[in-house]
Amino acid sequence: MHILDLLWNVRPALSVSVMSANLMSLGADILQLENNDVRLLHFDVMDGHFVPLLTAGPLFVKGVTTTMLKDVHLMIDNPFEAIPLYAAAGADIITVHVESGIHVRSSLQRIGKLKNANAEERGIARGIAINPSTPLQAIEPLLEETDIATLVAINPGFPGQTFYWDTVVRAEKVRGMIAQTGKNILLCIDGGVTLENCGEIGSMKPDIVVSGSAVFENNAVVKNLDMMRRSLRGEQQS
Ligand code: DX5
Ligand code: ZN
Repeated sequence: MHILDLLWNVRPALSVSVMSANLMSLGADILQLENNDVRLLHFDVMDGHFVPLLTAGPLFVKGVTTTMLKDVHLMIDNPFEAIPLYAAAGADIITVHVESGIHVRSSLQRIGKLKNANAEERGIARGIAINPSTPLQAIEPLLEETDIATLVAINPGFPGQTFYWDTVVRAEKVRGMIAQTGKNILLCIDGGVTLENCGEIGSMKPDIVVSGSAVFENNAVVKNLDMMRRSLRGEQQS
C-alpha cells in the first residue's frame, strides 16, 4: 500500500520521537510502542547548525529495526545531498524545513523520486516543516510538492519545550492554504504536546501529532499513549 494511503488510514496518528526513548533500553521501548499500536516512529535528525543540538544520522535510522513507519525530520542545513541516505536507511517520510536552504523545492522533488527501501510500491512521503517564527507564506509555493505540512510548535531542536499556542491560528491558516491546492495534504503538529494540552491540540484535528517526552513521561508509556489517543479523538478521560 502507498505511504499516503497508509497515513490517511491511521489518522490521527501519533508519531513518537525516538530521541525521547531510553537509549539504554531502546529495543524494549520500540517493542512497547509497536505492541501498543504506534504506527510512526519519529527521528529528529539535527546537525548542530540548523539547530544547536547534534543527534544521529542515517546509520542510526537504518540501525533501528521496527515495524513502525520511519518518520524522518531533517533539522539540517541544505538537506538536498543527504536525502538519498535517509531513503536508503528506510525512511517512509522525509521532512525538510522551509528554512533549510535555497533548494527546498528540489529537495521535495528529490524525496518524491526516491524508492522506499522497505517496500518499493510504498513510496516516500514528502514533508515540509516550518518553525514557529517563520511566516506561513513561505510554504505556500511548496504545497504542490508536499504530502505533509508540519507546524513545529516549539523552538526547534530540543524536546520537552512549551507549546506555542499561536500554532492553533497557524493551523487554521495552513488548512486554508491546503484547501486552495485541492490536494489531500496531511497536517502535522510537532513538539510541545503534553498529557495536559493534548485535548486542546486534538481540537485542531491534526492528522499526525509528534510527541516524545509526554509519551515516555514517568515511564508510563501504555497509560500515556491511551490518554493522548483519547484526547486526540476528543474522548473524555475516565
Ligand atoms: C523538536 C523536535 C520534536 C521534539 C518532540 O525540534 O522536532 O520532534 O523532539 O519532543 P517533545 O514531544 O518532547 O516536544
Ligand atoms: Zn521532530
